[in-house]
Amino acid sequence: MSEDSVLSAKNRILDLLIYLDDFELDTVETWICSNSFKKDLEIKKQMKKSEKCLIDIGETIKKIIPFEAEMPSENIVPPTVGDQADCNAINTVHVDEFLYDQDEVNELVKKGKLQKYYCLNCNSRNIKDLTLISHSMSRYVLQYIFQVLLPKDLEDKQLLDVGSRLGAVLYGAYYFSNAGTIIGIEMNKECCDVQERIISQYSLDTDRIKVINSDVMDRSDIVRNTNVIIINVLDFFVDIEKHKQIWYYFKKYIKKGSYLVCNRSMAETLGYLDMFEEFMDWLSICKPSQLENEVFFDLEECNELFLYTVN
Ligand SMILES: C[S@@+](CC[C@H](N)C(=O)[O-])C[C@H]1O[C@@H](n2cnc3c(N)ncnc32)[C@H](O)[C@@H]1O
Repeated sequence: MSEDSVLSAKNRILDLLIYLDDFELDTVETWICSNSFKKDLEIKKQMKKSEKCLIDIGETIKKIIPFEAEMPSENIVPPTVGDQADCNAINTVHVDEFLYDQDEVNELVKKGKLQKYYCLNCNSRNIKDLTLISHSMSRYVLQYIFQVLLPKDLEDKQLLDVGSRLGAVLYGAYYFSNAGTIIGIEMNKECCDVQERIISQYSLDTDRIKVINSDVMDRSDIVRNTNVIIINVLDFFVDIEKHKQIWYYFKKYIKKGSYLVCNRSMAETLGYLDMFEEFMDWLSICKPSQLENEVFFDLEECNELFLYTVN
């Protein structure tokens, strides 16, 4: 490292410390002078390395699917209930968060490849923010799930991603955890083909990671043997009736003691479907399992993730 880059690093650190009060400053100073700072730095480097694998996979996927990351064979319809019921073709645009992080989104906007606003009256300044929605989880959220939320040791566990789409959760589990078996069930064949292609191109261990092209409701054999189940909101992909059936089905087949990770609270999801009361005793909310790793994350970006155990 040259003298200039040391100076620049010091400058950036000072820029951060300037906002701390005396107590916060003392705490950070104690941490930097301790062994745990070095340990945390090593963990952070390892996390960056694993993240690079996901970035590479994302770059490959960008080349083989449409920019909107929605397949020609898909029928994606905004929900009629819930917090996304106001989405429609005019006010909403899909940007896949696994493929494009915030910096890349800003870059796309700058280059004019993505619009952030829509016009309420043509040629006027009367514009409104477009709603950006993602059907995949971001790399950041995936790291949080596996390095904070879930227990560290998943070696003898089977993990299932319900509707694995481009495979984001599967690759996250593969690189950020030691989960023994990682299964994605996805009903769309084109999405399954993308995941198969990545598994083969990156020589991922097929004894560990698998994709199954099916409706999850036809694979109770897998659901009942799963210990960790991850469900990104399904609202755009199923109608209300099917959505209700899926939850009754999960209640029947997910075994006691399993973990359930969702990116919206179950109270909200089941509340929108008007079935919360029937499910009140099914789940218990859990604290994150690896609290010592919270230091690596901006918790505000992860506050829509929920971990439950099945009672
Ligand atoms: C919101 S995306 C989640 C993608 C991925 N799990 C993630 O978080 O990055 C939901 C996916 O679930 C799939 N899906 C919806 N209902 C399904 C069902 N009954 N069985 C299997 N897949 C389903 C959809 O095709 C879609 O690709």
